[in-house]
Amino acid sequence: MFRSAGELAEGLRDARYVIDPVTLEVVYLAAKMQKPLLVEGPPGCGKTELAYAVAAAADTTVERLQCYEGITEEKAIGKFDESLQRLFLETQKDFLGQDWEGIRNRLHSLDFFAEGPLLRALRHKLKPCVLLIDELDKVDHAFEALLLEILSAWQITVPKLGTIKGEKIPFVVLSSNEERRLGDPLRRRCLYLRFEYPAVEREVEILAARSAHQEGPLLGQMAGLAHALRGWNMEKPPSIAEMLDLAQALQILGVKEIMPELRDVLLPLLAKTEGDRGRLLLREGFEGLIVDSKLYRDKLNGRGVQCISSLGRGANKRPRILRAMRGILRLGIRGPCRARGRSHPGGIRLEPLCGFQEGRCGSHAAYACDGKPVRSA
Ligand SMILES: Nc1ncnc2c1ncn2[C@@H]1O[C@H](COP(=O)(O)OP(=O)(O)OP(=O)(O)O)[C@@H](O)[C@H]1O
Ligand SMILES: [Mg+2]
Repeated sequence: MFRSAGELAEGLRDARYVIDPVTLEVVYLAAKMQKPLLVEGPPGCGKTELAYAVAAAADTTVERLQCYEGITEEKAIGKFDESLQRLFLETQKDFLGQDWEGIRNRLHSLDFFAEGPLLRALRHKLKPCVLLIDELDKVDHAFEALLLEILSAWQITVPKLGTIKGEKIPFVVLSSNEERRLGDPLRRRCLYLRFEYPAVEREVEILAARSAHQEGPLLGQMAGLAHALRGWNMEKPPSIAEMLDLAQALQILGVKEIMPELRDVLLPLLAKTEGDRGRLLLREGFEGLIVDSKLYRDKLNGRGVQCISSLGRGANKRPRILRAMRGILRLGIRGPCRARGRSHPGGIRLEPLCGFQEGRCGSHAAYACDGKPVRSA
């Protein structure tokens, strides 16, 4: 399918699919070794898209079997087209003669078989296709067992039709959201890939590749917001797909920077359950996430830490200071970032993490890596 990993990388780049070097090598190996790829991970993190991107890179088509509870062999492999068989008998009866065995064989040939995606994938003649067996965790064990013959012997046995051998071995992608654990016999036949939500840097690449935005700061802030939301213990954290929706919405709204005031209009894009909506509606909740998103953005843009000076005095500022400090700790900024200023009874103790000096943070809060006071995030 691909002469080299470089050729695959180039193809995936043209398909605007962002992939890390190790995953790229694994996909290349799967293609070379003619092994199916089993991809597991949360929704919207690029499992299905990988199959389409590989197909685009190989300039071939995708045969897709969308799995669901109660799916039948007929749906996956195909079935005899009875109306076509009947029509054949009616129109050709004068020429068929008395050779009942011959007639039966003729009727049970591929000419009268409406092929499903599995059979179609094996019968591609010129080039191998990509066979996507999507959301395999939705099917039962019996159906999973049906796939074993196909995925190791590259053939399908159909009653009355016989065993059909693959003409070209397809590149197979099996995807699962892990609602049910797939069996070991299937796993052993595959190379296994686990997709997680991407790191901020990679999400910026994906947003740049798949959205109309090209300005670094906004891309960084969107990716930072995604990261902050996913670290927020949501019932349904936003996926890459949802961040792409956000990118589109910001473009329509003409937004250059995400501000707390946009909360209500962005809520339907970011919170997809009542619980998550309720939490984001808390003023502190959304505002804190925006602070975090800016921290990530600034880290990406090499601006160092912008945090929490000038927050004013008083214990009521403590939550903001704490939030910003936590943001810094999460970012893993290293260096002599100090907390200084007037301490008060509710002063914040900084953990000696990530090169932070232990200290107490008063209401006038922090200084950034270079020791200079920085403006509020
Ligand atoms: N690595 C990537 N490079 C480019 N785009 C990506 C990448 N990962 C995800 N996307 C974008 O996210 C969208 C959703 O990805 P996809 O449909 O593959 O998710 P999924 O993992 O199959 O989710 P589900 O389990 O819900 O089916 C894609 O249409 C694509 O636009
Ligand atoms: Mg999918």
